[in-house]
Amino acid sequence: METRTVLPAAHRVLNQHPAFLLKKIWHYPARSRMIPQLIRKECMMIKKGGTYVVMGLLNTDSIAYATGKMIEELGGKVIYTVQNERLKRIFFDRGCSDLPQEIKDAMDIRYCDVTVENEVRNLFQGVGQIEGVVHSIAFANPKTCLGNKVYTNAFDDIKQGFHISCVSLATVAEFAQEHMGKGGSVVTLSFASQLAFPYYNWMGVNKAALEALVRALAREYGREHVRVNAISAGPLTTKAAKSIPHFAHLARTWKKISPLPWDPIHDKQEVANAVVFLLGDLSKKITGQTLYVDGGASSVGGELLKHEKPIKTMPAKKKIAAQERLKRMQERQRKK
Ligand SMILES: NC(=O)c1ccc[n+]([C@@H]2O[C@H](COP(=O)([O-])OP(=O)(O)OC[C@H]3O[C@@H](n4cnc5c(N)ncnc54)[C@H](O)[C@@H]3O)[C@@H](O)[C@H]2O)c1
Repeated sequence: METRTVLPAAHRVLNQHPAFLLKKIWHYPARSRMIPQLIRKECMMIKKGGTYVVMGLLNTDSIAYATGKMIEELGGKVIYTVQNERLKRIFFDRGCSDLPQEIKDAMDIRYCDVTVENEVRNLFQGVGQIEGVVHSIAFANPKTCLGNKVYTNAFDDIKQGFHISCVSLATVAEFAQEHMGKGGSVVTLSFASQLAFPYYNWMGVNKAALEALVRALAREYGREHVRVNAISAGPLTTKAAKSIPHFAHLARTWKKISPLPWDPIHDKQEVANAVVFLLGDLSKKITGQTLYVDGGASSVGGELLKHEKPIKTMPAKKKIAAQERLKRMQERQRKK
């Protein structure tokens, strides 16, 4: 009787026949039944407590940093790599001044020059079981490989750029997959390799080769349940990007052709989201692909016409300042 007054709903439920209860649960609103599925799907992005190696950290502008942060937010453990000890010092001295000390202390950062096979081997021998690797690495000498002319006889620079920006993915994938016991995912970063851009010269060639390598590696490691994919990102303001002559012009051009608004600073986050998608089980049957995260610029031709341009949204600060200016102007007019 007491139960009846205190918990009438519970009493009603507990006194039902099990078959009736099952029927009730089945007819429970679809959205509520989907909640466990949604939670499960969120877990499928990144394995909770799983280890992910994110290679190519330089500073907090790096795509590697945005990706690592996202993996951690979703419950994964991140091991970052920098090229060498000097760059690790630079990262802590100047590259992450905006981060609180406890975040800096918690970061697991190791060295690995991807052109030195032993360093790659040692890195993966020391990481234990891993779920995925992000290869966010590229370099080409700007003076010779990103100059006015495509032709150069600086063959050593061309070879170095090719080794770092393309071949290294094969080295990384080989040593990484040995530590992906139940399968895993390798993701690399590319840039619009189907088009030729001014000054991007030999890096464009490297990116085209990188995407071909992605397909070859996907074929080779598929039977071990290791997937290999690339994200082709639109222009983002990072150290590597700033070494491309006239990068600002390229970023401006992107805004003119991209159907979706493209923000070279903040859209790093969107790129990181896509990397995380390719790392997790939601993309379980995707391999050998290049996924474009570029605001759609790669799928259209020519500049957008005026009426096709994305509607500009004013940043909140600017909007408030503009409203205040308008208010002051109206007050001045009233006083007159
Ligand atoms: N920023 C862009 O606009 C953009 C667009 C599309 C793709 N990408 C690609 O994203 C990746 C990451 O670049 P980012 O823009 O974050 O710039 P970034 O400068 O922050 O990262 C490049 C990283 O490559 C590392 N690196 C160079 N040589 C190395 C070596 N021998 N061994 C180990 N590491 C080495 C650098 O130390 C640096 O950490 C690159 O592959 C780049 O081509 C960048």
